[in-house]
Amino acid sequence: MIEESLQQIASKAQAAISAAATSDALEAVRVEYLGRNGSLAGLSKEMKNLKPEEKASVGKLLNQVKNSLEQDFDVRKAAFDKAALDARLATEWVDLTLPASGTRPGSIHPCTQVQQEIEDLFVSLGFTVLDGPEVETENNNFDALNIPTDHPARDMQDTFWLTGGHLLRTHTSPVQVRGMKKLGPPLRMIAPGRVFRNEEVDASHEHTFYQLEGMMIDRNVSIANLIYFMKTLLAGIFKREVTVRLRPGYFPFVEPGFELDIQCLICGGPGCPVCKHSGWVELLPCGLVHPNVLRNAGIDPEEYGGFAFGLGLTRLVMMRYAIDDIRWLQSGDLRFLKQF
Ligand code: DAH
Repeated sequence: MIEESLQQIASKAQAAISAAATSDALEAVRVEYLGRNGSLAGLSKEMKNLKPEEKASVGKLLNQVKNSLEQDFDVRKAAFDKAALDARLATEWVDLTLPASGTRPGSIHPCTQVQQEIEDLFVSLGFTVLDGPEVETENNNFDALNIPTDHPARDMQDTFWLTGGHLLRTHTSPVQVRGMKKLGPPLRMIAPGRVFRNEEVDASHEHTFYQLEGMMIDRNVSIANLIYFMKTLLAGIFKREVTVRLRPGYFPFVEPGFELDIQCLICGGPGCPVCKHSGWVELLPCGLVHPNVLRNAGIDPEEYGGFAFGLGLTRLVMMRYAIDDIRWLQSGDLRFLKQF
């Protein structure tokens, strides 16, 4: 009897649907009973052998069984789907309050930041910002600055020599020469830039560092003018009281020459590697421009005079941000750079 087989199939299918342990197993059950070549489909093929009066009742029963099995299947399938979704949500969730991890903006190097600040300060005082080449002539770097070939001052600056009378500039002072020749007196100029020395690298020495040169030439420029500008410079830079001392210093291109030191802001005085355990840092050497330097640039020292200074920009940055090792500045280390 076809009705009986139908009942048997129905109860077996129901049991299989509830027994299916996974979504895949459930799908296999569906194919087995409800699929195109499944048991129910097989039975409906046998319908053609039935008598016409049986056909209607068996057909109805077949449909009922089919619908009820499909319903059971859908309920079970929905349960599996929900469990799968719950499991996914438990692991794959997104915290919308977390900061985005996409682009990390860069920042301006501390040396450049301080350089730009000082440029602004001097521009407001009527100074022009000049740029000079890092590969200089021996003449601009030394001779024109009153440091002739056999002058012992050449030994003070360990030089990277290039061929053909060129070198890597050891200081920004050659830009004084270029400035005087290009612009003539009266002159107010600064020249920030990178300089190079053939030096043993340690916490306070680098082969590459930054200076900021300054020069003012006019009639009647005196030490009082020099001191005024240096005080203005330091006030603008530190925006707080710093202890300074002025002592005589020797540089062939100035006469008289001074060393303006500030008390070490890393250790506050007792001494540390940065101040070479002296408690003081040479920050701002300066002086009145030597007549030979003016003369070499075609300026009459009888008519004009001036002052010049060579700010140690790298040292200044170290003081300002309490950086205890100069090597950080050129390191490119993001752990360091990110702080600025
Ligand atoms: N050029 C000198 C150096 O690198 C620093 C310096 C000293 C510059 C005195 C000046 C100055 O303009 O007047 O050691």
